[in-house]
Amino acid sequence: MMKIAIGNDHVGIELKPTIIDFLKSRNIDILDCGTEIADRTDYPIYAQKVAHLVARREVDLGIVICGTGIGISIAANKVDGIRCACCSEPYSAKLSREHNDSNMLALGSRVVGKELATMIVKEWIDARYEGGRHQRRLDQLKDLEAGLLLDEDNRINKK
Ligand code: RB5
Repeated sequence: MMKIAIGNDHVGIELKPTIIDFLKSRNIDILDCGTEIADRTDYPIYAQKVAHLVARREVDLGIVICGTGIGISIAANKVDGIRCACCSEPYSAKLSREHNDSNMLALGSRVVGKELATMIVKEWIDARYEGGRHQRRLDQLKDLEAGLLLDEDNRINKK
């Protein structure tokens, strides 16, 4: 059974129930990292909670929601091993898995309506990483995380 962690700030609270309902309809196991309360809070906290679960492979994927999706995706992408795609339409969401092997999806509750958000999530979870020519770039992302310099021949130079 696929397991997905979900997290949001106070603005993301609006959209989360829709996403959870959709995931439940697909028999996906959900780990809700909060927040549950509408009091103002900070998106990096919830981005980190979800990102850690994904990076440690305690869940298969993560979904995070804030007002625009931007802040929470930036925060998630600070965690090693995370490839979080902030998407406001399904095409990018699908390609983010096929080409970039995105392991987290960020949504903006002030940007996308509930139906569009559901379509985005559907395309995202149904897509699969294609590997092949994309793998070299994913390896380069790992090198970036390791602080290595990349050159145009894809060789690693120095720290
Ligand atoms: C909170 O006001 C808002 O800044 C946050 O939800 C998000 O949109 C940040 O990127």
